[in-house]
Amino acid sequence: MNSNLLDVKLIDLPRVEDPRGNLSFIEEGKHIPFKIERTYWIYDVPGGQLRGGHAFKKQKELIVALSGSFDVIVDDGKEQKTYSLNRSYYGLYVPARLWRQMGNFSTNSLAMVLSSTAYSEDDYIHDYQYFLLNKA
Ligand code: TYD
Repeated sequence: MNSNLLDVKLIDLPRVEDPRGNLSFIEEGKHIPFKIERTYWIYDVPGGQLRGGHAFKKQKELIVALSGSFDVIVDDGKEQKTYSLNRSYYGLYVPARLWRQMGNFSTNSLAMVLSSTAYSEDDYIHDYQYFLLNKA
């Protein structure tokens, strides 16, 4: 059964404001609803390119715009919602079994993804029709 768009959440991260520069952080088990198994990041994205365009069977993730801005489009098979991420002190929680794509990357944007799973190609659903057939 696929997730619902209502399960997607913007999560505010701690912010320590300081005239010397601001600081934010994430602690496992405290700020996000899963154990972090992997961190990866997407950078040097040429203008107009899209990333993602698939769903995960098990992977839950938190996506943070560490620098610059980009959009995350989430789709539960019934409706779509676009989140514009442009600050490093919040992240978008995306549960498993939602179609998601990233685009509209600004120059020098840096997308950090905290993942609940190690990388596994078997976890990917690349076929949108297959994704739709398995929705709730
Ligand atoms: P992929 O997740 O398919 O990126 P996108 O959805 O944006 O197209 O990953 C692209 C390639 O990088 C793919 O060949 C697998 C590899 N990869 C890893 O080896 N480890 C990882 O943690 C990730 C996310 C990708």
